[in-house]
This record gives sequence, C-alpha cells and structure tokens, in this order.
Amino acid sequence: MFFTKYPSAANFVFAQAHGSIGSGKSIELDMGKRPIMLDLASYQGGINRIRLTHHQTWLPNLSLCELNSGMPIESDAIRWEEGSLVIEDEHGNIALQTVTNRGVGANAEASLFQFIATEENRYYGMGEKNFDTLELSGKRTVFWNTDVWSDFHIGQYENHPADPSYFSIPYLAIKLPSGKYVGLLLNNPAPAFMEIPGRDGSRAFLKWQQTSPHLILGSYDGQPELWVLTADTLPELTSKFNRLVGVTPLPPLWSLGYHQSRWGYGGDDDLFHLDAEFTKHGIPCSGLWLDLDYMDGYRIFRYNQSLYPKGIARTADALAQSNRRIVPIIDPGVKSEPGYHVYDDGMEQGVFCKNREGEPFIGMVWPGETVFPDFIQPRVRDWWATYAEGFRNEGFGACWVDMNDPSTGPMNPSDMLFQEGRDAHWLHRNQYALGMQMATHQGFLQAKPKERPFILSRSGSVGSSRYAAIWTGDNVANDFWLRLSILTTMNMGLSGHVFTGADVGGFGNDTNPKLMQRWMQAAFLMPFMRNHSTAGTRQQEPWALGVRTREISKHYIRLRYRLLPYLYNLFAQHEQTGEPIARPLMYHFDDKNAEEISDQVMVGPYLMQAPILEHEAETRAVILPGKKPWFDLTSGEWLTSGRYAVAVGPAETPAYLVTGAILPMQASLPEDENVDLSRPSFLVAVPDGVSLENQTTYVSDDGIGFAYREGARSEMVVRIKATAKRLDITWEQTLSGFGEIVPEFVVTPRTGAIYLNGVRARQTRVSEKFTGRAISLRRLS
Ligand code: GLC
Repeated sequence: MFFTKYPSAANFVFAQAHGSIGSGKSIELDMGKRPIMLDLASYQGGINRIRLTHHQTWLPNLSLCELNSGMPIESDAIRWEEGSLVIEDEHGNIALQTVTNRGVGANAEASLFQFIATEENRYYGMGEKNFDTLELSGKRTVFWNTDVWSDFHIGQYENHPADPSYFSIPYLAIKLPSGKYVGLLLNNPAPAFMEIPGRDGSRAFLKWQQTSPHLILGSYDGQPELWVLTADTLPELTSKFNRLVGVTPLPPLWSLGYHQSRWGYGGDDDLFHLDAEFTKHGIPCSGLWLDLDYMDGYRIFRYNQSLYPKGIARTADALAQSNRRIVPIIDPGVKSEPGYHVYDDGMEQGVFCKNREGEPFIGMVWPGETVFPDFIQPRVRDWWATYAEGFRNEGFGACWVDMNDPSTGPMNPSDMLFQEGRDAHWLHRNQYALGMQMATHQGFLQAKPKERPFILSRSGSVGSSRYAAIWTGDNVANDFWLRLSILTTMNMGLSGHVFTGADVGGFGNDTNPKLMQRWMQAAFLMPFMRNHSTAGTRQQEPWALGVRTREISKHYIRLRYRLLPYLYNLFAQHEQTGEPIARPLMYHFDDKNAEEISDQVMVGPYLMQAPILEHEAETRAVILPGKKPWFDLTSGEWLTSGRYAVAVGPAETPAYLVTGAILPMQASLPEDENVDLSRPSFLVAVPDGVSLENQTTYVSDDGIGFAYREGARSEMVVRIKATAKRLDITWEQTLSGFGEIVPEFVVTPRTGAIYLNGVRARQTRVSEKFTGRAISLRRLS
C-alpha cells in the first residue's frame, strides 16, 4: 500500500486566504469543513516551526524525542500572509514560500505542505534512502520503516534502490539558486511522504508520471509539524539540523575499531577461534558479534548455556585480554511461550502491544509466534531496561538491536497497536526502534553508569542519533551495494545521523576476494566498520578469501586503527558542533562539479576518498574539487584540482589530503587494538610555494567513560603558517585534564625551513605506506 502510491494534492482541501500573522502567533484557518489552528514559532539561528492543531483530528505531537530548539524568540522570519506561508532567512531574504491558497492542506488525518520550487533548486538528505543519486530531484518517496528483505522480493533490491528502507527521517536539505540552504523536517512519527519536483519532464512517459512542479511534504496522520531551517551554507545547515535532532554522544573509542560479525557465530568455540585467528594474523578487531545462534531457541535475554560452559562472563573476561568485546543481537520479538521468564513477566506486567481485540498482538519472527514490548510507553521501556541491564552485567560489552522496524513476519502490522491499544500502529511505527534504543541505552547506563553505552540498531527515526549507531541493514555482496554504502552513509550524515556504516563485504549472496578487497578499502574510514554476512554464504572473515585478500584487509584495518585519533576527534567535534563524519564533496566545495558526486567522500575536513566501487576495475574517474592542490596518499604527489582518470592496483585505493591538512594519527601502523590518544602524530600537508594558515584542535581522554565531561580531557591546538620560504608549526596544550599530550609531526616533503614552536626542526626522511606504494615524508624533531 505504501510503496508505490502517493497521496495527491488533488484530494486535499487547502487553507484559504485569511488574514496575516507572524511568529509566536496562531490563526484559525478554514480548511474544508474544519477550522484548524496554525501556530508559528521562531527560534535562535534561523529555525522555525509550523504546527497545525485540530483536536478531533490529531493527537498532540507523539514524538518520543523533543527537539533541541531552545525557547522561542521574537521574530517575523516566518509569516502567514494572505494564503501563503513565507519563510525568511536570517538576512531577511525570502527563502521559501508555499503556493498561495494551496500551501497547507488536509485530507482527513493526512496533511501536506506545498512549496513553490524553481528548476534550479537542488535537493539532498532524506537519510537512509537507497536511491543511487546524491541529488534527489524527481523522487517520490514514503517514510515507513521497512524490513526490506521481508517486504520486497530479492529481485527488487538485489541490484536496485528499494524504497522505503529501514530508517525514516523525513528531512530534506534544499540548495536554493542563491546558493543558500533551507532544511525541512516533518517532525511527526507517523509515516511521511515527499514529492520532489523533477528537472526533466521529458523522461516521463505519461502526464501523471511527472512529479509535481511544487515541492510536497506531508504525513499520513499525526499532528502536522514542519520545521524550517535556513542557513548560508551546507555545513551551517547540517550542524544546525544535527544539533536540533540531537547529536551522537561521543562513542567509546573501541566502537570505532573494526568489528567481525556473521550470522552463524554461536558460542565459545567460534569466539575463541576468531580471537586466535585475529591474533595470529595481526589484524586488529575490537568487537566479536553474536547473531541469533548464541540464544537458547531464539529466546531473547537468554543465551544457550551449553555453548558457554563456563558462563558468558568467563568468555568475556578472556576476550577482554585481547581487547575484544562480545556484542550480542537482541530482537524485540519475545517468544510467546508460557514458562519462558521474559514472556511470563511481560504478560504479568502487561507490557506487550495489543491487537484490536485487546489481546497481545502476535507476530511471527525467528522463534515462531512472538509478542512485542510496547516501547512507546515509558513504563515498558523501564521494564526492558532491567533486562538490558542484566545482560550488560553478565559481560556483554554492547548490544545489537535488530528487527525493530518492527518486523512482524507475514502478520499484518496494522493489527499491532500501541499505548494499551489506544494508538493505531502507524502513529508510532517509525519510532518503535527509537523506543527500543532508548530502553536498551537506559539499561546499559543502569548497569555501568560510568561507561558510554554502545548500541547498534537497524531501524530508527528522528532522535535515534542520541542512542544508537545505525547500520544500513541487509545489503548484497555486489557493486550496487558497495556503491550505496558510501552514498547512504553520506546522506545519513546530512540528515541527523552520523554514526553509520554498511555490512562490509555484503550480507546476502557470496562475496568474492576482489569485492572484499575493494569493500575493505571503501569502508576503512566509514564511521562504523563491521564485516557481516548471512547464514549459508561463503565465509568472509579477512583470512577466509585467500592470502591477498587477507593482506589487503589487514593493511586497511590497521590503517583504520592508525587513523583512529582522527576519527575519534571527528566524533568529539560532532558532539560539539553537529558536523557529520562522512560528507559529500559539496559539503566543503561549493563547486558545480561537486553537486552530484555520490562516489567520493570527505572524511572530516582533511581526507577525501574516491574508492573503486566496481570491484573488477582498476581505474576510475576522480574529481579533485576546489582550487588548491591535493596530496595523493597513494603516490605521494601533489595534484592540481581537476578531473583525473586514476589507475590503482588491487592493494591501492585513491585517497587524498587537502592542502593545509593537519591529520592526527598513530605514529605507525598498529598491529593490535591499542590506541594511545595522548601521543598523536600529526601529518601536515602543505605544498611548496603556497601561503596559508590553518589550525586544528585535538582532544584526548580515556575513550570509555564520561569523565571527559567533568574535565578529564586534554586538548591541544596545532597551528600551521606557511609562506613560500618557511613553514611554522606551533602547538599549545590548552587543557590538561587527561594529562600531557605529546605530539609528533610528519610533513609532506617541501623545500624551505620548518620551525616547531619557533625552533628550526630537523627533518628525517621516512617512508610510509598509506593507500598505495610507500611514500616519502619528513619526520620533524
Ligand atoms: C536480520 C538482520 C541481519 C541478521 C539477521 C539474523 O536480517 O538485518 O543482520 O544477521 O536478521 O539475525
């Protein structure tokens, strides 16, 4: 029902011209047979909210997450003017306007907003949409958390964009012809829809295949609430938006390492075998993930004791010796089985979702018939948190919450009601996973109040960023999904969720050595990196696909650990500013060339990757945007900006540093998981003959707890100043709550003198291998 049909404005009634109001005011609008209240509010920093109220039609906003807007301010940035909503940016220019007398519409519980759009507008965001373009003109879509493999036939997703996907965030970032930006968020957990004007009507065969000339955003139900953000640049918009929905708190350092998963790992034997193999091959790995097979008959919160003869705590302790944590999967579906303690307790407490007859709703998931905790209710989240707490205390280091779309198997989800049967399924469906994340997070904090919880989730919605990382669900081992892995991660970062990554190597179908090599190279700098595959497919651990794949995987996994100081600092910055980790080129380069590039990615401000995404290929086209040269980490050469056809061997992947990069890393390629954040080695990239200044702030802390929030953090500011004749690098420790930071500096080769805090530095030639052959750098002392 949701997947191919979209509401049409033709079936909506629209508010008619009816006076004028500004921010902080309400006005009654005539919409068909109903008077509806329109409230407008403005907040600091170009943030505005539009809300419609009609008590007989909509319950008040049902979202579990309050947005971080602060208090409303006096402003006329948003106005209702004689039949049209007008939004001004912070400079007083009109950014967006609804269609006069057809701007605000309702059709029973459904609502929509229609904005005037120009052909020059460009559209981005939408979170986890698996469209294969960065720019989103001409897309019609719904936001409905979906178990893709259950709701689509494999032919629909194996090599194509399947929409909708697991995670819903109805957010759109618009680049206006002026170059400025507007962000639009439907803050309503009910399913949403969008229709983005197309740019080329000739592609459509029939009139109705053409998208509307107007931009349409709406919801199928729930109180209509649209947030409109204005900004001068994409970084400004994204930071603002990501902070509004909630930044991701700094994750534990180990969660940014490499993770090994597979549907099939079950007990001690598997875990100790993996542990031994990683150690033997010198491949760092921080997390060993247990899929369904560790459970006792798919009963959640109960592990199969025969697989852990000495108990999970002993296993966890043993693996902790090699810096590895165990991460178990937990599904929301509780086996419907009297005698099973979670079921009995849940029945007694009345925590399960009800059907229309007031009985517990029954779905069909892994253990057969299952019932589902109603995570929308705070008391049910408390109930679940107690189980999560117990699990954390047993020795599990983190938690993987799956199937929380929620997947109900063949059972019709609309029979699954919330809030003691009062609320229809779709009013909350999209935030069911959010409720599960909140409850699990709470349980982890109850168990270890001083440790940052790490939770990975499949589905999610507005606000999930505060509680869980997201992996992009079940993909397939092929080039289509390899390509999407980069694009979806970038789109998520623009849309409020920065801690994401795809199953490396591909989940479904057999991977192959070349594909795995290219996937490792494409993933080694993604915010989250986990190798995962489905039952029955070819084994795809780093050593399982031949020596060459093992050696290539080893190198890129080690390189990830070498760069963890950088990744960790990007997360620390994100917590402060809301900036994403993985960013499209257009985020940093306001360059026509960059607007639609979906297969290259900036990782933070300094590093750009252009991975090979056709696994058989050894060449690809690369765009180096902007005007300044790029340092090629594969060849060690400086390249002027422009277009290149790049050839790389199987062990190489195109990656570049921007001019002026100050990249913190570990001093050498590590062989294990240990990262000493207090001893960063900064790689400074400055070509000859360029004058520039730059600075970076680097932080270190214990990587695991919250003490950094109470001052247990150290901070160092590194500045560089280059002229044709000399390069000055200065540093200053600005905070010392976590002890001394002892920096080291490595620079790209250049003529002319280099000074370290004013003292002429000695340069020692060193040879380093990053993403290609060994390149020559200079270590300073
Ligand atoms: C779902 C998950 C997948 C997991 C499987 C079995 O398909 O998305 O990652 O391996 O369930 O638990």
